Amino acid sequence: MSTKLAVVYHSGYGHTAKVAEEVAAGAREFAEVALFNAEDASERLEELLAFDAIIFGAPTYMGSVSAGFKAFMDASSKIWYTQGWKDKIAAGFTVSNSPSGDKLNTLQQLSIFAAQHSMIWVGTGLLPGGVTGTQINRYGSSLGLMTRTDNAPAEVTPDASDLESARLFGARVAQTAGRFAK
Ligand SMILES: Cc1cc2nc3c(=O)[nH]c(=O)nc-3n(C[C@H](O)[C@H](O)[C@H](O)COP(=O)(O)O)c2cc1C
Repeated sequence: MSTKLAVVYHSGYGHTAKVAEEVAAGAREFAEVALFNAEDASERLEELLAFDAIIFGAPTYMGSVSAGFKAFMDASSKIWYTQGWKDKIAAGFTVSNSPSGDKLNTLQQLSIFAAQHSMIWVGTGLLPGGVTGTQINRYGSSLGLMTRTDNAPAEVTPDASDLESARLFGARVAQTAGRFAK
């Protein structure tokens, strides 16, 4: 049986959607992948039961997940009651304007959310760009993927290095899920 991975994301202005597509492209090397807009996913929670892994993506708005993603988190309490996502692989990514922009808080929210669902959290597995001398994982994030809009529209940002980081991140999560998939 092949590994099944879902990417659930919210995007107000297109940047997070762009990163979600790249995360999905990386994951597709190792898994069957489906993308869910968080606004629809709140109505499709049962469908997510069929996946081995779920990657959560939210823009950072006011230092935390966007309201659109939070609505999905709250809706998922129906699944939490039954622990239906228990032992699925989970991971997360975020997009914000500033180099920091308080993105870490968003990733912490996503990882605690996954822990409430008793999911198994996977970090980036990417050394910081400052260590490797590359632009991959240039914000040096371990908990989840950080990308940046740099105050530019989704047509031009996140930039190529962030999108390549997203592909590598998606591939890592899918490979990890493959080890756990029944
Ligand atoms: C309401 C709002 C709050 C924001 N708060 C932050 C913030 O706290 N830190 C930051 O760096 N960028 C912040 N931004 C910029 C967004 O993070 C950035 O434009 C974003 O990632 C867009 O993603 P999206 O196009 O998927 O909505 C904010 C944008 C909006 C609309």
